[in-house]
Amino acid sequence: MTRLRYDDIFHISEQLTKYDSDLRRIIDMGLNELGAAAAGANLTELQKYIKGECVGIVPITSGEGIINSFSQTIKSIIDFTGLTSFITNATDVAGIAEAVERKATMLFIADDATCKLLHLKKSIIADNSECTSRGFATALKNKIKNSDKKKITILGAGPVGQMAAKNLKADDIEIIIYDIDKEKMDTAANNLGIGTAKSLQEALDKSNFYFEATTSINTIKENDIKADTFIAAPGVPLGIDETVIKKHADRIITDTLEIGVITMVFTILEKLSII
Ligand SMILES: NC(=O)c1ccc[n+]([C@@H]2O[C@H](COP(=O)([O-])OP(=O)(O)OC[C@H]3O[C@@H](n4cnc5c(N)ncnc54)[C@H](O)[C@@H]3O)[C@@H](O)[C@H]2O)c1
Repeated sequence: MTRLRYDDIFHISEQLTKYDSDLRRIIDMGLNELGAAAAGANLTELQKYIKGECVGIVPITSGEGIINSFSQTIKSIIDFTGLTSFITNATDVAGIAEAVERKATMLFIADDATCKLLHLKKSIIADNSECTSRGFATALKNKIKNSDKKKITILGAGPVGQMAAKNLKADDIEIIIYDIDKEKMDTAANNLGIGTAKSLQEALDKSNFYFEATTSINTIKENDIKADTFIAAPGVPLGIDETVIKKHADRIITDTLEIGVITMVFTILEKLSII
């Protein structure tokens, strides 16, 4: 997981409504519909479980410290789902105590390595990497269902890439994974029962649907974009060449927090709905 910078997130709160309508145009689902679908449920059903829930967002100072505007951005994304939230005045352990005192039913906590939403009474945990992977995979699945070319290339065999493979694996979808670390790639491919490629170019040549989960820039370039290419790209920094982003914006979904955090919320609500 790459540590986010202020520059990666400062725009999110102001642009949530626009991002939501862009997503609706590109994948036929807004952020909340996508989050609910990624949790395996219907949005209207899950919204019934929002009432009475409140998220305490606790700033955490460990590691390299608090990222400017991170807690405010998380609050704006959580509030977009219809949930109530607040940011604690205190940080760390004192912040957790404050959240409980102020009757939070859930805690949002993140450090440089881990990002979780916890339901305090029901002992339910949603993990950001897992939810991000499932959210972006759900969007890609929604696009590939209408295509007759059912092959997906996953770039990056870290937790996010591997969880995407698990989520995308279906009888009619062939998955290829590629990682610059060959040993990691081969181990992941063996465990997951999916294919590999000898090079980045071979991986991209093999399919029209890409899941970009690396930590590198410029992995996908203009000559990798075919007539019906679609890219789900949670990777930070974004592994897509800038000219591709500008020219093919309607064939790319990418963000640094929104889909993952919204999927975390709906993952918890879905679990509440079946308890
Ligand atoms: N957008 C979000 O909300 C969100 C949430 C969680 C993680 N992420 C990002 O998703 C990405 C994947 O997360 P992760 O935890 O699996 O990361 P990771 O660092 O564990 O794995 C990344 C993998 O990509 C491989 N890689 C790097 N450059 C490559 C290249 N040019 N070609 C092929 N493989 C390459 C690395 O060898 C590594 O195995 C990271 O960039 C992370 O920051 C985004």
